[in-house]
Amino acid sequence: MLEQIKQLISEIGSFTATTPEEVEQFRIKHLSKKGTIAALFDQFKAVPAEQKKDIGKALNELKTAALDKVNELKEALASTDTGRSGIDLTLPGDPLHLGTRHPLSVVKNEILAIFSRLGYTISEGPEIEDDWHVFSALNFPEEHPARDMQDTFFIERHPDILLRTHTSSVQVRDMETHPLPIRLVTPGRVFRNEAISARAHCMFHQIEALYVDEGVSFADLKQTLTYFAKELFGPETQIRLRPSYFPFTEPSAEMDVSCSLCHGAGCNVCKGTGWLEILGCGMVDPNVFELNGIDSEKYTGFALGMGIERVAMLKYGIKDLRLFFENDIRFLEQFSTAV
Ligand code: DAH
Repeated sequence: MLEQIKQLISEIGSFTATTPEEVEQFRIKHLSKKGTIAALFDQFKAVPAEQKKDIGKALNELKTAALDKVNELKEALASTDTGRSGIDLTLPGDPLHLGTRHPLSVVKNEILAIFSRLGYTISEGPEIEDDWHVFSALNFPEEHPARDMQDTFFIERHPDILLRTHTSSVQVRDMETHPLPIRLVTPGRVFRNEAISARAHCMFHQIEALYVDEGVSFADLKQTLTYFAKELFGPETQIRLRPSYFPFTEPSAEMDVSCSLCHGAGCNVCKGTGWLEILGCGMVDPNVFELNGIDSEKYTGFALGMGIERVAMLKYGIKDLRLFFENDIRFLEQFSTAV
């Protein structure tokens, strides 16, 4: 009888099935009331007492092996037999919620793309800067009131270290390290000690452009600005330059574009003027070249800088600057069609 049990154990061990029906037949053959194992248990009653221990143990092993086999085969078939497990593979999948680009990134990318078509490459600099790169090397003399144009966050323990108030600081780093000619655009975050309101924030974004070469003229600046404005706001856009003052440019100007919402007729976005102020610009002051080791007799250049939030607000008619930083998905997803 022991032989018979051992043979059955090995037979059960090597059994395989490809359908649930085969598994069921196997179960009936061995594990039902009239199955092989039940029959052996019947015979077991007549086994002499001294053999009961060995045979009983073998019989229990046989039964466990048969039960394990049935469970194992059922599980294996269930995991491959998707048709029977209740999963319909022909159903369409659940849609994934795609995020959208932040409107500031959309506008930044658009501006960078326009300048890259003009041959500019991107350059970035640190947000924590020193006085030299933010002010001194840009021709802001110490104690000069022009420094008050931008309310600065200083690092308390290091009066020389501050959060940059404009991306013009990257111009200085570019002039230090980049071989001439220079044609760079520098996007980045800037910081000013201002109360947060619908029109101002203590942190915002700027893009700066710098072009330095022999023979760069104000006409080049004007043509670059005209192309830029038409690309960004549409081909019918007009520009207007107003004289201004920045310590690092001479002459300096501020550029307005014709209001793209009312086409110059006057609306509440342009406050009835038909014009929107977009950026500051000018010819790099010869003092700045000298401070940065560039021969101002040989080289000329222009620079321009603008706030990305401001451009985005004008482009999309956004009235409150704080919306950009609240990360309310209902606001952010409205720009989903934009690049
Ligand atoms: N840095 C100026 C600001 O933050 C903007 C600016 C004006 C940048 C004129 C320039 C420029 O490059 O030429 O207000």
